[in-house]
Amino acid sequence: MEEKILLEIRNFSISFTQYERGLRQKELTVIRDLNVRVRAGELVAVVGSSGSGKSLLAHGILGILPYNSRCEGEILYRGEPLTRRRLKKLRGREIVLVPQSVAYLDPLMKVGRQVRSSRKDAESKNRVKALFRQANLPENTEDKYPFELSGGMARRVLVSTARMGQPNLVIADEPTPGMHLDAAKQTMQAFREMADGGAGVLLITHDLELAVETADRIVVFYAGETLEEEPASAFMQEETLRHPYSKALWRAMPAHGFASAPGSQPYGADRPEGCIYGPRCPEYTCACGAEIPFVPAGEGWVRCLRCVEQGEGGEET
Ligand SMILES: Nc1ncnc2c1ncn2[C@@H]1O[C@H](COP(=O)(O)OP(=O)(O)OP(=O)(O)O)[C@@H](O)[C@H]1O
Ligand SMILES: [Mg+2]
Repeated sequence: MEEKILLEIRNFSISFTQYERGLRQKELTVIRDLNVRVRAGELVAVVGSSGSGKSLLAHGILGILPYNSRCEGEILYRGEPLTRRRLKKLRGREIVLVPQSVAYLDPLMKVGRQVRSSRKDAESKNRVKALFRQANLPENTEDKYPFELSGGMARRVLVSTARMGQPNLVIADEPTPGMHLDAAKQTMQAFREMADGGAGVLLITHDLELAVETADRIVVFYAGETLEEEPASAFMQEETLRHPYSKALWRAMPAHGFASAPGSQPYGADRPEGCIYGPRCPEYTCACGAEIPFVPAGEGWVRCLRCVEQGEGGEET
């Protein structure tokens, strides 16, 4: 299994240099010490709320971050660093991004041509038709311009673009908003099929419910940090989850009563000392004010001192 790791993100951080009053510089860390692995044939969902750093993570992997950002840590693809040079060769072919914004579609080009890219042969044209049909897009969608499509339809076109080239690694950034439930489920199923076909899929979403139904593993992301990683089956019951934030997410699922947790996610500049979830955590103790490592626990990983104290932790990363 180990040798089949396609994508490995190790101790990855992203910060922005910002200027306040005149020339005084400030570093704003938005992703901290992130560790994620995606194996061939596996669908890993990163679940986080708005502003937790999901798009930055996707853009960090693809090397398309804004100029004022700084990355630390390592990103390996098939065991080798994913350098700018390698990325340039692989992006759009072996490694594809399904972007969050439908603004990535060219407004002046019919969507069929965009999905085909430079391919003009009849086989490619038929494949676009077949992919659009599978995505439940109406007949002749290939001859439409992006402005003629609804947001949900445009998103399904973006997903079809990723399926066109049969990539090895797919990074999907929020592929389902704006879709009604059936279309969202169908889109998630398209990613499941890509993984079942041997690709590694990193699917970034705020929708835990859809992630639980489709993913193999789920990574819980909060204010730029991974708090827990578990097999998706651990999210079937609250008891099999470890981190208090994962439990709160579970209770907030529609099927479990929509219970909201008090407080809100902190942003870079307001980061508390120690545990990032500390100010909202019902189990907070003064020991949680220290740096909390991400450690193995059972079949997963957790960043919580209390879970480790309870004898579930392992070695520090
Ligand atoms: N260029 C930038 N400079 C400074 N901060 C930024 C920049 N881009 C993003 N951020 C900050 O980084 C954090 C994470 O942003 P990101 O867009 O990755 O969130 P997200 O989880 O994708 O949210 P959403 O679910 O709304 O798409 C936010 O607090 C955002 O304000
Ligand atoms: Mg985003």
